[in-house]
Amino acid sequence: TSGHLRHVESMAQLPSGAGRISHLNAVVLGESLASEEHDLVFPSPEFSSQALLSSPEHGFWSEIAKEFYWKKGWGDGPIVEQNLDVRKGTVKIEWFKGATTNICYNALDRIIGRGDGNKIALYWEGNEPGHDAKLTYNELLEKVCQLANYLKDIGVKKGDAVVIYLPMLMELPIAMLACARIGAVHSVVFAGFSAESLAQRILDCRPKVIITCNAVRRGPKVIHLKDISDAALLECVNNGVSVGVCLTYENQSAMKKEATKWVEGRDIWWQDVTPKYPTTCAVEWVDAEDSLFLLYTSGSTGKPKGVLHTTGGYMVYTATTFKYAFDYKPSDIYWCTADCGWITGHSYVTYGPFLNGASVLVFEGAPNYPDAGRCWDIVDKYKVTLFYTAPTLVRSLMREKTEYVTRASRKSLRVLGSVGEPINPSAWRWFFNVVGDSRCPISDTWWQTETGGFMITPLPGAWPQKPGSATFPFFGVQPVIVDEKGNEIGGECSGYLCIKSSWPGAFRTLYGDHERYETTYFKPFPGYYFTGDGCSRDGDGYHWLTGRVDDVINVSGHRIGTAEVESALVSHPQCAEAAVGIYAFVTLIDGVPYSQELRQSLVLAVRSQIGAFAAPDKIHWAPGLPKTRSGKIMRRILRKIASRQLDELGDISTLADPSVVDQLIALTDS
Ligand code: PRX
Repeated sequence: TSGHLRHVESMAQLPSGAGRISHLNAVVLGESLASEEHDLVFPSPEFSSQALLSSPEHGFWSEIAKEFYWKKGWGDGPIVEQNLDVRKGTVKIEWFKGATTNICYNALDRIIGRGDGNKIALYWEGNEPGHDAKLTYNELLEKVCQLANYLKDIGVKKGDAVVIYLPMLMELPIAMLACARIGAVHSVVFAGFSAESLAQRILDCRPKVIITCNAVRRGPKVIHLKDISDAALLECVNNGVSVGVCLTYENQSAMKKEATKWVEGRDIWWQDVTPKYPTTCAVEWVDAEDSLFLLYTSGSTGKPKGVLHTTGGYMVYTATTFKYAFDYKPSDIYWCTADCGWITGHSYVTYGPFLNGASVLVFEGAPNYPDAGRCWDIVDKYKVTLFYTAPTLVRSLMREKTEYVTRASRKSLRVLGSVGEPINPSAWRWFFNVVGDSRCPISDTWWQTETGGFMITPLPGAWPQKPGSATFPFFGVQPVIVDEKGNEIGGECSGYLCIKSSWPGAFRTLYGDHERYETTYFKPFPGYYFTGDGCSRDGDGYHWLTGRVDDVINVSGHRIGTAEVESALVSHPQCAEAAVGIYAFVTLIDGVPYSQELRQSLVLAVRSQIGAFAAPDKIHWAPGLPKTRSGKIMRRILRKIASRQLDELGDISTLADPSVVDQLIALTDS
């Protein structure tokens, strides 16, 4: 609750223009309250309901929600029903239940209705410089409606799943919005995933349709997505699941129609059908708690989790976080480099920005093609004002000559953003000083697939930043840091990051597995949502995310379960065991010799089962792995060996066989 008050306080300062809330005041307020936790005096519901600002559970989110169109309102009842405490029964989160709306209507028709129909909704920049396109809000709505009508015509109904396996073409957000318009549940699969990963996701959600394209160019490479889809669909048929329609967009600049392999009766060209349909399409009004999309994400076991988001709360939350964390103004040109295959592309390429009526840039290509200055050339070409990216991209471009940045003026830039992993202070400074000419604040947004939207984020005009810190929670978000026993710890501390109360954008379940939802997220620290991240808080109350504390790892900003990579490695007939960091320690079948070829074929196993982005950079031959007597691999020791911190191995006496450590060290550069 001190968190609430603290942020209601900071919120109260926002619109006044008196500007900068003193974060110190906020923290002092928070802390003095925390020390008198038992003396909190709440406003009465009568007072809250008429106050200009009230707590999230009371009027706060319902006031904001009134900016959207609801076919039917949520009445006078509470806007949220929640139980986050497993000890009190099933975990449940519902916002605006009983109200009906449509997120596509809010993102397009509502924006057009307020007079922005001729505003550019989408700018598209192709892989090759000079290859581009754009759509106004009116045109975007027409394209969405044509596809929506086609999908309805082939029998896609409210609640049906649709898998989208597309690169960053305009057709990707179009397909997402078309599904939302008719109440279908989209599941976008990142176009870097392999056929096996795609098949696994299709087998889990059983879509009526898959939407793909024949191929895409990324940098100098051509990726044949239709071939990958074919392989995935074949694998599904072998597992008893057949998808009726494979709607394929002809991406002419990468591959011609004639060269595309075709399965008659199943495959349909997007361009053959959609132009025949009307450019208007009635909206399917759905309950605020009806499913909007499923997005598979890596967990600490092999099977990806189908994170389920619903409509109403997600809509209100993504729109509001976008607006405040990027200080969005109607004249902004916004570019987020994330792919719609990840949550960032859902919440902050598609939904959040369109719900604000923003002009959004989508880029098909690679940031270093034709050279390392491409991003900054694009910034100048479109006069991008808000640029949102990942630390991995910042670090890779930082290694290149500064002239790649300085040859572009970058005058238009106003706010920079970072997401996906902690941004180290040196990368932060380069981003701030070189890219942003020391002029643009950086919104280092901490959040997750599960959270739907920003949780801990700077409000760029409101408080001072510290390079590498995501700063403070968004309105109404109550992060707490707990120790191993689940006790909240206050003041300057570090521990496990949990969230105390729900927020509108929270995921509601894991598709088809509510038990796994409870076990993974709510049982580790009863009473809280457990994020899986470590975090420390400094003396000024700033939050510093320290990375995952579970077996989930971050490879180039992409989240991947160690178990997924491990299972790809051990599926290799000559591999007995593997533990992954994505520096992989690999134990071979007894008697099999190490070789360069074997190393390559192991890497290939990961590439083909998960995707190229997850391929290990290093394989360390391991005659044995350091395990406890109960058989648990001690990854802590592996990490130290991998990073050559041999004097920091710590206590190894609890290992079943301490001598494996010396063997591993001896094989370090094998
Ligand atoms: O470890 C945190 C890291 O990314 C994880 C979530 O990954 P995913 O669900 O794929 O979503 C990525 C995009 C939201 C988190 O548990 N992470 C994300 N943003 C940050 C971060 N770590 C530190 N700082 C961030 N800004």
